Amino acid sequence: MIGQEIPWGKKLTRLECDITEPPQHLYPKLDSQHPEAILCLASLDLRQCQENPIRGISVNCFGNFQVAEYANKKGIPFIQISTGSIFFGEKGKTFTESDTPCPQHTYGQSKVLLELLTQSHPLSLCLRTGWLFGGRKSDKIFDVLLKKTLLGEPVQANAEQWGSPTYLPDLIRQIEHFIESQKAGTFHVVNEGGASALEFVEEAKRLSHSTSEVGPFENPKGMERSPSEVLTSNKGSLLRPWKDALKEYIERGKHET
Ligand SMILES: NC(=O)c1ccc[n+]([C@@H]2O[C@H](COP(=O)([O-])OP(=O)(O)OC[C@H]3O[C@@H](n4cnc5c(N)ncnc54)[C@H](OP(=O)(O)O)[C@@H]3O)[C@@H](O)[C@H]2O)c1
Repeated sequence: MIGQEIPWGKKLTRLECDITEPPQHLYPKLDSQHPEAILCLASLDLRQCQENPIRGISVNCFGNFQVAEYANKKGIPFIQISTGSIFFGEKGKTFTESDTPCPQHTYGQSKVLLELLTQSHPLSLCLRTGWLFGGRKSDKIFDVLLKKTLLGEPVQANAEQWGSPTYLPDLIRQIEHFIESQKAGTFHVVNEGGASALEFVEEAKRLSHSTSEVGPFENPKGMERSPSEVLTSNKGSLLRPWKDALKEYIERGKHET
């Protein structure tokens, strides 16, 4: 999702460069690109990690760590995109960079492990973000919900869990800014404010004057998730409020159709 929208850099697909290959195969492929910095987006998402936890840990943690080790040895920045779903807290709780992760599922665990393993790398940059929307070709849940709402189709969305809806173009601009300014360390990069998926969809309906029927949806059983994954920042890295970003997304859509 993120990689498709980034207009800069050389991009390698999984077929061109599988990050779980042993270093003797992986590192020559990285060498051939002469990288000055590596933004590693190779990952399995929450659902994929739940279906195949060993593979999830292998890609999100060990595969990424191999790339981070390469970057560290070459003295170039390694950038990882982490997530608010490494935290656990009740509704109303927000998490800063100083809070202690407490992941409830393999995806979150794999992301925290990578964060820990790369902490000692001086040029390692970890940007934790939220529930992304605004990918033009994205099939991720927030884009699916948005598209249905804008088309006036019925939508059911989770009302039990809170996160940080984050506009992908805003995140990408911030990634670019962080790389250019050679920042290292951990930062929360989300649009300001928390919401449930249901609140997000209701706001999209209001802004777009959609006639979509919107209602709550039962939490799937067996998926242990924190009631709140809302991020905030004590390092000044928050983006504009998510409602402003959503408004821009909807306005942009009107101009493009
Ligand atoms: N999307 C979000 O809402 C969100 C939120 C917070 C953080 N993040 C983080 O942001 C990063 C990018 O997320 P995304 O949503 O853009 O990911 P995505 O759309 O799910 O894409 C993941 C990519 O990783 C590739 N991949 C999987 N295994 C690989 C391997 N062994 N070697 C090389 N490539 C491999 C996949 O290729 P194939 O398709 O060929 O398998 C796919 O192109 C991830 O670290 C994710 O945890 C995303």
